[in-house]
Amino acid sequence: MKLIVAVDEKWGIGKNGDLLLSIPDDMLYYRATTRGKVVVMGYTTLLSLPKSKPAPGRLNLILADIEGLRVPGAVVCGSMEQLHRMIGCFHPDDVFDIGGGSMYRQLLPYCSDAHITKMRFDGKADTYIPNLDESDGWDVADESELKDYEGLKYSFVVYHHAKPEPLPTAKYLSTDMSAYFRKKEPLEVALVDDSEYKPKLKTLLHAYFRPLENGFSADEVETYLNAEPKAFEDHLKELHLIASFDEVHAFADRFAGQGEKVTVEREDLEVIDAFADGAITAEDVIARLILSSNKTL
Ligand SMILES: NC(=O)c1ccc[n+]([C@@H]2O[C@H](COP(=O)([O-])OP(=O)(O)OC[C@H]3O[C@@H](n4cnc5c(N)ncnc54)[C@H](OP(=O)(O)O)[C@@H]3O)[C@@H](O)[C@H]2O)c1
Repeated sequence: MKLIVAVDEKWGIGKNGDLLLSIPDDMLYYRATTRGKVVVMGYTTLLSLPKSKPAPGRLNLILADIEGLRVPGAVVCGSMEQLHRMIGCFHPDDVFDIGGGSMYRQLLPYCSDAHITKMRFDGKADTYIPNLDESDGWDVADESELKDYEGLKYSFVVYHHAKPEPLPTAKYLSTDMSAYFRKKEPLEVALVDDSEYKPKLKTLLHAYFRPLENGFSADEVETYLNAEPKAFEDHLKELHLIASFDEVHAFADRFAGQGEKVTVEREDLEVIDAFADGAITAEDVIARLILSSNKTL
């Protein structure tokens, strides 16, 4: 993963929820560097973007501790663990941490490169990031000449860390989402934990959706309630989200009996998306992620 940020001379990055200063050349640099990539941000930073909307032309991952939050055109992660697993679905070079302070601090250990716009002034910030000149393992890999914007001096500096910590990868689905991202073709995924994943999918599809289609029998309700009471209750609550049962069954049939490689078509993903929230795992939200990428790229 990489990060990109503009800092003042004290490594301050923001004040009152906003940037310290906006340099047009820096905005162009930011746009060019992150275009077509996965951008990861905290909710406060999302709110600071134009119209508080996800950055277009990028796959937006938002970390927010707000239950049920949905952001059109973005994938919302409710915990750092979930965000880690999401990021782990992509090639590290394709993922950019774009802030703010809490995100830079928490994700810094996983970053290999930091694109720092160094502004030579004191913005009296209230939000800071660690000073990489004084942080272990970080070296300057590249530095532009000193530039000038209406009297303010600044430069683009790229820092490199040779040994970032690895992020956990997706548990069930092994794939390079980045490749899909670029080609926008059906996705070939390898089921790395076939034994767990497929039965889980089947259980979900058949246990939860099939009985609901035909109405409940008392036995069915009791069986499923006893087996996974919390999950069952959650599903009932989320029922209004599901796609048509025909679609769900067609999807189940497509997965049933396939080998280790599965080609996932867009229609499949829309169906997964319909019950991905909390129903399976963060890895499965991969579906939502793909859908979002198509909306924003
Ligand atoms: N100079 C630059 O290039 C640059 C770039 C981006 C942003 N910024 C600036 O940075 C400032 C914003 O930074 P910030 O640190 O206040 O906010 P932030 O990192 O953008 O976002 C904080 C949000 O993320 C949530 N969050 C963070 N860690 C979480 C976790 N582990 N689990 C669940 N939710 C989590 C927080 O929830 P909780 O509140 O519940 O913890 C909060 O809603 C602004 O001034 C902005 O302009 C500057």
